[in-house]
Amino acid sequence: MQRFVLCYMLLLLNFWLLLATATCNAVQFNQDWNLNTLPSPNTTGHLVFDTVSSLLQHWPNTKYHSGHTIVPGTIPTGTLLFHGRNDPDVPTAREWAATDSEFARLFCVEPEECWLLTVVTTRPLRVLYFDGSSATKMPDGPMDLQDLLIWGAVHPERANLDWEYERLNRLCDTFGFDAYIRRLVSEIMLCNFTDGVEVQNFVRLEDEERFPHQAYAFLHSSVWHDNYPGDSRLHLDLTHAISLYDTVLAPSLVSSRHGQTRRDHRVLGIDEHDTRALLARVRALRLQSFSSNSGVDWRAMFHSIRDRYATRLEVLQTVLAEDTPVQSAFILLQTLLAPYRLHSAVARSNSSDTTWATPVFRLCATADTLFAESESVQATLTPSEHLLLTAARETNREICRTLVVMWAEGVVSLSSESRWRWRAEVDRLMDWLGWAAWNNCRPACVFPVRIVLLSRRAILDGGVEQLDAALCPLV
Ligand SMILES: *[C@@H]1O[C@H](CO)[C@@H](O)[C@H](O)[C@H]1NC(C)=O
Ligand SMILES: *[C@@H]1O[C@H](CO)[C@@H](O)[C@H](O)[C@H]1NC(C)=O
Ligand SMILES: *[C@@H]1O[C@H](CO)[C@@H](O)[C@H](O)[C@H]1NC(C)=O
Repeated sequence: MQRFVLCYMLLLLNFWLLLATATCNAVQFNQDWNLNTLPSPNTTGHLVFDTVSSLLQHWPNTKYHSGHTIVPGTIPTGTLLFHGRNDPDVPTAREWAATDSEFARLFCVEPEECWLLTVVTTRPLRVLYFDGSSATKMPDGPMDLQDLLIWGAVHPERANLDWEYERLNRLCDTFGFDAYIRRLVSEIMLCNFTDGVEVQNFVRLEDEERFPHQAYAFLHSSVWHDNYPGDSRLHLDLTHAISLYDTVLAPSLVSSRHGQTRRDHRVLGIDEHDTRALLARVRALRLQSFSSNSGVDWRAMFHSIRDRYATRLEVLQTVLAEDTPVQSAFILLQTLLAPYRLHSAVARSNSSDTTWATPVFRLCATADTLFAESESVQATLTPSEHLLLTAARETNREICRTLVVMWAEGVVSLSSESRWRWRAEVDRLMDWLGWAAWNNCRPACVFPVRIVLLSRRAILDGGVEQLDAALCPLV
């Protein structure tokens, strides 16, 4: 590992720290169908939903850099892995590799010789994946989860290069996977460079063009994996995903998260009891076959929910902010709720009583998860799947509750005063959901300009301030 890379990553991280401004409003949760019941401030279903549906993607995991999720998975046979170094020696011991050569290349920094080793997997490798910016050696959260597995406690003072081989060795010795995957872009910590992979080629490369600077190609490659589906060469088994937002697994974290913005959530405050429970869950993964009897495609389910709401909530927010008649927003609400607006749900009177809209709320809130409430499906779910089910259920519930309350109000009486209340409600909902899809430049940057500006300003001119100013303003 080169110092350069660390410095570079520090810079990137600082930059994204500036960008991240999300806050979680405190709200109250209850399982009832009362349209006025907000989610509890301690509920985490929406956080499980967002972290799990953001797995393998660069952008959301940069924003929320302290990982909370560990997932077993596989790297299929025939996958290329790259390793850059300054000498022509094939590693025989445990070492690092990357799924993108652009990242591996950073590790052979000129003026020394640049050797690029390409290995290919000869069988499926069993891997354990850490979300967040888990390859970033920063003391404020990204390494927490690894520390817990390795040392049973978080050691911020060990978030540096000196401890990296110790980390690798302990992970390999303790948990029995072929490799551990950390994310900046995908960094593969291989436990054995000769078992399950074979050398495809090992070549000395000529010096790379430096314009606009050394890490240009790497930055580019990280952007390939910004959004869904992320790095598709890695296959994760969600039916055995472990989340530290699981309040059954780690109840001690509820109080340490209390009152904090999501960006500040860490697993640092976990107690010994919960740490032991976590370690037992992770140790058991090695023995588990990667299958579930339910057959549910959770990734697809989560993304169908996102697809349905992400863009349209953003449009609704924009329409409410603009000087357009509130009627436009109401039509959007009708469209959003179209599959659930029952013919039988008729506004009873000109009053604030919205119970007539409850059947619409229920239909909307249970749309994706109703099938899984049956005993026969419940019996097939793994503990991880129960967590995912709750996450989908709670996320849908709050989206639907918020939309139905506004829509029901509009059905009874639509006035321009509704606009400000609705705007606040949509802002609150989107803030609570925290989806990275909404963390964008408006208007969007022309992609190559973003990269060139980012890299040139940051590295050649120096300084995070210029880096920030170089980007188009965030809304
Ligand atoms: C790596 O795997 C090879 C082949 O299975 C084995 O002979 C060797 O001992 C392993 N090395 C380590 C460090 O486990
Ligand atoms: C949320 O958790 C905090 C800290 O454990 C606790 O003080 C508070 O009462 C909880 N709130 C609710 C509504 O359960
Ligand atoms: C509701 O009441 C307001 C005034 O209180 C009235 O202007 C409006 O027409 C009423 N709407 C319905 C649907 O009865």
